[in-house]
Amino acid sequence: MNAPREEFGSRLGFILAAAGSAVGIGNMVGFPVAATKNGGAAFLLIYAIFVFFICLPVMLAEMAAGRHSRKDPLGAYKTIAPNEKHWHIAGWLSIITPFMIAVFYMVITVWIFGYLYFSVTGNLAQLAEPDFFDNFVNAGTVFTFMAIVTAIVFLILLGGVKQGIEKAAKILMPTLFVMLVGMVIFVLSLDNAFAGVEYYLVPDFSKINATVVSAALSQAFFSLSLGMGILITYGSYLGKRDGIPGSAKMVALMDTGVAFIAGLMILPAIFSFNPNTNTAELSDSSLSMIFGFLPKIFLALQTTIGYLGASVVASVFFLLVFFAAITSLVSILEVPNAAIMDERNLSRKSSLTLLGAAMVVFAAISATSFGMLDFTTHFVTYAGTEKSFFDLIYDVFYDTILPLNGFLICIFVVYRWKASNLNKALEEGEPEFKNSLFQKYVDFSIGTFIPFILLLIFINTVALKYF
Ligand code: PHE
Repeated sequence: MNAPREEFGSRLGFILAAAGSAVGIGNMVGFPVAATKNGGAAFLLIYAIFVFFICLPVMLAEMAAGRHSRKDPLGAYKTIAPNEKHWHIAGWLSIITPFMIAVFYMVITVWIFGYLYFSVTGNLAQLAEPDFFDNFVNAGTVFTFMAIVTAIVFLILLGGVKQGIEKAAKILMPTLFVMLVGMVIFVLSLDNAFAGVEYYLVPDFSKINATVVSAALSQAFFSLSLGMGILITYGSYLGKRDGIPGSAKMVALMDTGVAFIAGLMILPAIFSFNPNTNTAELSDSSLSMIFGFLPKIFLALQTTIGYLGASVVASVFFLLVFFAAITSLVSILEVPNAAIMDERNLSRKSSLTLLGAAMVVFAAISATSFGMLDFTTHFVTYAGTEKSFFDLIYDVFYDTILPLNGFLICIFVVYRWKASNLNKALEEGEPEFKNSLFQKYVDFSIGTFIPFILLLIFINTVALKYF
């Protein structure tokens, strides 16, 4: 006997959980760094256009397919196309992808947790030392921190949809927002902060080229948690009385809003630290920004606001990034969890035990990719570049498979499930969607240029990365 499917308690709960998934390390650091390097407001404008004109329809398709089938992503493909094995491959991809992304995202979250620990315990001087990061990621304590982070994520998941995922989002998301706004106000009070604001908000269109445009789309796609099966899974927990289009718009708005506000925290901080910052020299990677550059700023704050003040600011920063990361990890691990529960008919507890064991093994292996083990550090070589196990997972699942999954869901929903069924699902709980301009746009775009663009990105990435 199957228990009735778990559901979110309210539409707000669903929106906050989906926004919790969307708001992650990508918003807090990835977006501000990308915007800084690529023309400030010009990048923001292109990014926002992609969010609303390309990503939002894909989000609707995922949520609708999930709610209609009331299954995990593999189950959704199987419910809609029962005898078509080739579509089931797409279903498998949408549960393997989130598992593998969770593997590398877990490692980064563990580092953030470690930096949070060192900030709270007042070790800013240590954090800012040039070789701290390398020593930290290669020390055995990483595994202690990993055990704690894994326990937090799995305890939330064990609580179930309403008492775990939804409750965590309802607590963590508003707290995160308050901390973020508090940080922005503090940063804006520093000397020279407005040079950073100006830099951020004055568009520089000369920086925009094909690479930047494609990076903006990838960033938007990742930031909205698309192509990972997450919104199919969360959609499957959404009651029929709650409308999808309006909820999806809220999620996209919150995600973009938080990314924008995070820029108001990071850029002024950089400029106040060094008024002559040459942004071209800022590191490309958000990781070296969080773990290399920001600790130097926190340490420098000691001269203006004292030892305790600087520790508080650093702690609040790492705590808010940690909250953002936790709600994303919860969402991404719920996908394979839902798949095991649905496909194998297991209880949440048994399923999470299996998943947790697999997760710990893979995450521990990927944590050794930074020098701890030769084998994982020098794992493979392609296109003339040596890659670690961590890099490989990142390249394959973040850079390559995500747009492919996005392409597949668009084609599946429009041409296999059919646009008329998609529309019916989107009108449920939101009858005003019927015949609206938004509906016409979604119907047209999702069957034409959106999958085309996603396929192009996929082919381009494969050609550039592996050959
Ligand atoms: N949207 C997340 C981010 O911006 C991406 C993500 C979601 C990553 C879920 C992992 C899990 O960071």
